[in-house]
Parts: sequence; structure tokens; C-alpha cells
Amino acid sequence: MTTTVTLIEGDGIGPEVTSATVRVLEATGVDFEWEPHVAGLNAMDRYGEPLPEELVDSVLRNKVALKGPVTTPVGRGFRSVNVELRKRLDLFANLRPIRTLAALPGHFGDVDLVVVRENTEGLYSGIEHEVVPGVVESLKIITRHASTRIARFAFDHARTNGRKRITAVHKANIMKLSDGLFLRCFREVAEEYPEIEADDRIVDNMAMQLVVNPLDYDVLVMPNLYGDILSDLCAGLVGGLGVVPGANHGEHIAVFEAVHGSAPDIAGRDIANPTALIRSGILMLEHLGLEQEALSVGAALDRVLSEPARRTRDLGGDASTSEFTDALVAEIESAAG
Ligand code: NAI
Ligand code: MG
Repeated sequence: MTTTVTLIEGDGIGPEVTSATVRVLEATGVDFEWEPHVAGLNAMDRYGEPLPEELVDSVLRNKVALKGPVTTPVGRGFRSVNVELRKRLDLFANLRPIRTLAALPGHFGDVDLVVVRENTEGLYSGIEHEVVPGVVESLKIITRHASTRIARFAFDHARTNGRKRITAVHKANIMKLSDGLFLRCFREVAEEYPEIEADDRIVDNMAMQLVVNPLDYDVLVMPNLYGDILSDLCAGLVGGLGVVPGANHGEHIAVFEAVHGSAPDIAGRDIANPTALIRSGILMLEHLGLEQEALSVGAALDRVLSEPARRTRDLGGDASTSEFTDALVAEIESAAG
């Protein structure tokens, strides 16, 4: 049986980490058919728009996509393709599992957290305007609909995965209406899940708690901006942006992408760590019901990462992206016999 997946390679290190991920996923023997599409600057050149309709149609049709990072111009130019895609496809939940890998013990113990980020509104609504010269307004949109939906997603995820506690992250002391509504919706949904402990933290304290007591936390749910910032912080607890995967979920569609961006500082040099996107690929295999294949990629990652010299530079090794990928493919193929 063929599994058709939309493939968005992105830019910067995107092409390097997506081609590495495709090689590793294909080594499991799954018969993938990839539908490649361009986005961002590459798409501007070819289609005159950063998010071509063909790409959106392809994801709507296949219901699953693997996506590399896409650069967003800072302070000018087109709106973020990443944010736009999540809104167009109503990928309302961004799920980022933050787990210390056995092969990569760090300074923070065995961290095992899940960041659930609301993905469609908050301060990422992109509604900004100049009121008068020198004064701009950026609107933060929080709705009962999206806040309830993301809370329910977090509680369902906790229930399905045997997690015991969910902490809502907010700034409702200052943003009484907007974050207040987010928190109220969270508390209402929590009543439907009496077996799961529910509490909350103010975001600045949360940032400190995550560095000092990361093992105290289980599932975290939060509005868009806090989720963006705290997921990079959490990546730092477990080996950095090179290793943390992610998934954007809608009702029927899922787009798998790493937490990191296009890393222009290291692009095109064959040194990026593809682990984060490969682990997003593991989440994709699980989503497709391919449990054995997911396990085999995870086991190969454990074996290669447990040897310091075979790691990429961000993890202190000296393997290039392609050498690291070669090693993973060889591990998967030899384990399959
Ligand atoms: P970044 O995540 O691209 O890079 C931050 C730092 O981490 C850099 O030093 C980079 O070299 C390093 N890094 C990231 N991924 C790595 C990997 N796989 N292996 C080794 N080192 C890695 O964040 P930055 O520089 O703030 O953003 C660059 C561009 O990416 C911006 O245009 C931003 O808008 C975009 N971006 C796109 C995302 C997406 O497509 N989902 C997510 C985040 C940022
Ligand atoms: Mg981010």
C-alpha cells in the first residue's frame, strides 16, 4: 500500500533536513509517495505568492504533510507562511513532546513534558496597523471556541497517553480579559476530566520553573506566543533545537515539523542536525498507525546518538548531516536484516 504525503522542504537548512528525513523514513520499507511543494521565498519566485494554493490543496487531499522550516522576513515582506498554513488548514494544536533521550543525558535529568500550543490566534493573528505615525496596534485575539478546543485537545492527549497533570500557562493577572478567557475555558474543560490534575502558572514564573524544576511538569497548554517561546526554552533542556520534534494537528489533518527554524547561519553546509525532523517523522509514522516502523527509527536514533563521535556538531560530535543520515539508514537496514 502506498502512503502519499505532501512534502514541503522549506528553505535554509530545510532541504538538508527534509531529504535526510525522507531517506530515513524510506529505509523502514514503507512505500511512500511524496508530493513535493514549495513555500516561502522559493514559491514567491515561481508562483508570486508565498503559500501557493496547490500546496494547500495537496495537504487537504493527503491529510498529512512533512514540512521543513520556512524563513519569514523580519519586520517587512510577506506574513509567516508557517503561521498562515496553520490558519488556512485550521491546524489548531501544536504538539511538542520534550523528552530527554537516553542517548543524550543532559543537565536537567529525565525531562518528559508535552507542550501544547494554541496555533491559530493569540498574538499571531497578524492583525497590526498604525494608528497614527509612531503608534502601532497589534491585536491579540482569544476566543472561547479556540481556547476550549485547545484545552480539550490537551486533556484528550493526556488521557490517551496516560499523563496525569495539565498546567495552563497564561498572564491573566495582566491580560484579564484575553488570558482570563483562556484560563476560564481551561478550567471548564478540566471538570470533564476529573482523573487528570489541572493547575496553572503565570508565564514568567513558568519560564523559571521550567529551568529549575522541569521534572515537576507533565503537559503544558498555552496560547500561541507563550507556546512559541517556551518550546524553544524546553528544547534547551533536552539537547537543543536540533532534537525536538513537533506536530500540527487539525480535526483531520496533521503537518509534522520540527520546532526549529531555517537556521540561515548554518544552511547549505551539511552540518545541520536532522534529528528534530526525523523525530517529527516518527510522530508521523505513529499517526499513520505504523508503530513498528516508528520504533525502528527511534531505536536507530538511540544507537547512533549514543556514540558521541557519530553525533552532529550541535551535540558535540563531528558527523555531517549526510554521515549521520547514512549511519541511521545503515542501522535501520541492518536491524531489518
Ligand atoms: P532557528 O531555529 O532557525 O535557529 C536558532 C539557532 O539554533 C541557530 O543558531 C541555528 O543554527 C540553531 N539550529 C536550529 N536548528 C538546528 C538544527 N537542526 N541543527 C543544528 N542547529 C540548529 O531560529 P532563528 O534563527 O530565530 O530563525 C531563522 C528563520 O526561521 C526565521 O526566518 C524564522 O522566522 C524561521 N522559523 C521558521 C519556523 C518554521 O518554519 N516552523 C520556526 C521557527 C523559525
Ligand atoms: Mg518558534
